Parts: sequence; C-alpha cells; structure tokens
Amino acid sequence: MMNIITTIDELQKVIKEMKTQNKQIGFVPTMGYLHEGHRALMKKAREENDVVVLSIFVNPLQFGPNEDLESYPRDFVRDQDAASAEGVDIIFYPTPAEMYPEELSVTIQVRKRTDALCGASRPGHFDGVATVLTKLFHLVQPDRAYFGKKDAQQAAVVEGLVKDFNFPLQVVPVDTVREPDGLAKSSRNVYLSEKERKEAPALYRSLQLGEELIDSGETNPETVISAIKDKILTETSGEIDYVNLLSYPNLENMDTIQGTCIIALAVKFSKARLIDNIILTREQEEA
Ligand code: PAJ
Repeated sequence: MMNIITTIDELQKVIKEMKTQNKQIGFVPTMGYLHEGHRALMKKAREENDVVVLSIFVNPLQFGPNEDLESYPRDFVRDQDAASAEGVDIIFYPTPAEMYPEELSVTIQVRKRTDALCGASRPGHFDGVATVLTKLFHLVQPDRAYFGKKDAQQAAVVEGLVKDFNFPLQVVPVDTVREPDGLAKSSRNVYLSEKERKEAPALYRSLQLGEELIDSGETNPETVISAIKDKILTETSGEIDYVNLLSYPNLENMDTIQGTCIIALAVKFSKARLIDNIILTREQEEA
C-alpha cells in the first residue's frame, strides 16, 4: 500500500523505521503533474532500492516574482495513480506552510554553475532549488536521489550541493524522456497552443542539427549557436531566451568545442517557457 504523508513529523517517524530496518531508500523529488519523464525516474528508483519515496511540492522559493508559481499545473489525484503504477511506497505531499512555517533564517546560496543558462535568466532559482533539496534530503535521508538530464543545469547544481555538504547519497542522472516527435516531456507543455505544440519539436531538431555540425568537424561554438538560433527563429514563433554551448558539468564558456559539453536552450512561447539540451562528448583529435 502506498503511504501518503503530508507532515514532516510523520515522514521522520516512517523514515526512522525504514532506517532501523536497513532499507535502501530511493528518492524522486518533483513538483507533481507527473508525466513519463517523472515516471522514468520512479522506475529507475524502483529497480535500485528497497523503498521509493516521491515528493510532490511546488516549491515557492524557486519561482521568481513574475514566474508561474500560481498557475503551475497541479493534479494530485492523477499523480497518485502514476505513483502507485510505478510502485512508489511513500508520497511526501506537504503544504507550503508545512515546509516553510515562517521565513527561513538560513538559505543555501549556489555560487558555481549558475551564471549561465537558466541561472542567468532566473536569478535565485537555483538557490531555491538547493534550499528545498537540503531540507528534503535531511528528511528523506535517501541512499540515491534521481534527477532528469532534461534539467541538466539543475543536476549539475545538485551534484555540487551533495559534494560540498557531504550528503551521504548518490545522485543518479536519468535520460530525457521525449514525445515521439522529439519534444521533451514537461509539465509545462500543456500551456502550448495547438500551433506552438506543432512548432515545439523544432527545439530538439535544432539541438540535433548542432550535434551534427559538431560531428562533422565544427569546433567553433558561435557557429553552432547561430545555426541553432536560425533554425528556431525560422521554424517557431517562440522568443529565444538563450542558446548556449558550454562545458559540462562546469558550465563554462569554451573557445573551441572539446571534451564533454552541453548545448542548451530556453525558448518562450506565449504561455510556456521550454528548455531542452543535448550533452555530448567530442573526443580529442589524435595529435
Ligand atoms: P520537476 O520539474 O517536477 O521535475 C522533477 C524531476 O523530473 C527533475 O529531476 C526533472 O529533471 C525530471 N524530469 C522532468 N522532465 C523530464 C523528462 N522529460 N525526462 C526525464 N526527466 C525529467 O525539477 C523539479 O521538479 C524541481 O526543481 C525539484 C528538483 C523537485 C526541486 O523543487
């Protein structure tokens, strides 16, 4: 039976019990409105652990003043079905008042890997993510925590958080799950108009074009970035927030494309801002 827990007290009791039984705990933090992407994380967690804990919490701390906190899609009834179908043992579903009874006196500030990409266009966003995950990691005490590569910058920030603060857990990255036409699954896709939904697969196709250019020998990041921007502007009505090519996971600018890098983009449609990325490794040329 799946256990739905809404209070911190109850969660701590149940986790303590699991720990005395030496159960391996897999943790999937989410903001709900679960789709196949989230389900891939739950599946992997189910395979690798004795107990799977899913959290569903739309974290106010990670939303900017003009972002979609209020309108972020929610459907707890449907989420329960998805979680139970994936064999989740515990859903932690707290209210904002339960998580933040009063304004926090201490928050986490992320200092690296945040000056580019979403960190640049969403100031404070990753501080909010790192702060809520610090609380959740302390509460759930997982052996493994699962993160999607769709949010590759988030995964890189979490790796830093876990390493710097010595959380005794393994961060497990999971491949991006896509629609058959290539669009990365996202809770925000429901906000695309019919026309925008038809255009949106161009985002992934433009990333693939970038990858092909690199495969065929292009080494200048700027050339790849402009080819991607051109394709997005021609094939969609979206407004480009950013397209960038950086080292991964450090997210630093490169003069020449080499080693492991990420091509990442964010594009604003009328009611949804979509992100996507490809991580690739360009082997060093033989001298
Ligand atoms: P949310 O956007 O709900 O995503 C929860 C997890 O699902 C993240 O690790 C995200 O990368 C993963 N995910 C989303 N779409 C995916 C896809 N198409 N394929 C694979 N994985 C996908 O990310 C958050 O919530 C929050 O920032 C959170 C970590 C819960 C902190 O509040």
